[in-house]
Amino acid sequence: MAQFNLDNFIQELRAAAVADDAVKRVRQLMTEAFRSPESIRSAMPHYDNDDEVLFEDDSVSIWFVRFVPGLHVPPHDHQTTATIGVFEGAEDNHFYLCEADRLVHKSSRRVGPGDVIALKPDGIHSVEAADGAQSCGIHVYLAKLTTIERSLFDWDSGQARPYTDENYEQMKRVTA
Ligand SMILES: [Fe+2]
Repeated sequence: MAQFNLDNFIQELRAAAVADDAVKRVRQLMTEAFRSPESIRSAMPHYDNDDEVLFEDDSVSIWFVRFVPGLHVPPHDHQTTATIGVFEGAEDNHFYLCEADRLVHKSSRRVGPGDVIALKPDGIHSVEAADGAQSCGIHVYLAKLTTIERSLFDWDSGQARPYTDENYEQMKRVTA
């Protein structure tokens, strides 16, 4: 298999994101690339930030995302399809449904090196690093995520609040 090249991968994702079957094509590209998580890991630059936008335009946002031990990212949606692949460590993804006046935990999934998952636009998840170690992945969204209006959800009542830095800081759980 060819060595992972981030620039090439971004170009491939950009082409896939404007296709009629973008959701499927992005998923295929991610699944293929993450068959060799070690190849991605060795090719990725180091980022000081835990979230780094690698590319974004109106059709696609490609992020490097690191989850660190001790922080549980609060329940949120994306209002666009989110495709997540992990190349180092593991993310514990917890999935929820809003029912009446509460947030109901439906399932959880550990996403480890080589795994790829996709969330629908209205899918709600919270995320934390697994096993006390950081996780690193590439997250692909089929829209310009930095400008999209999306929500954070109260851990108990499920009440939706705008996804702002201020609300995020209030709602994040520090677990360490
Ligand atoms: Fe997310």
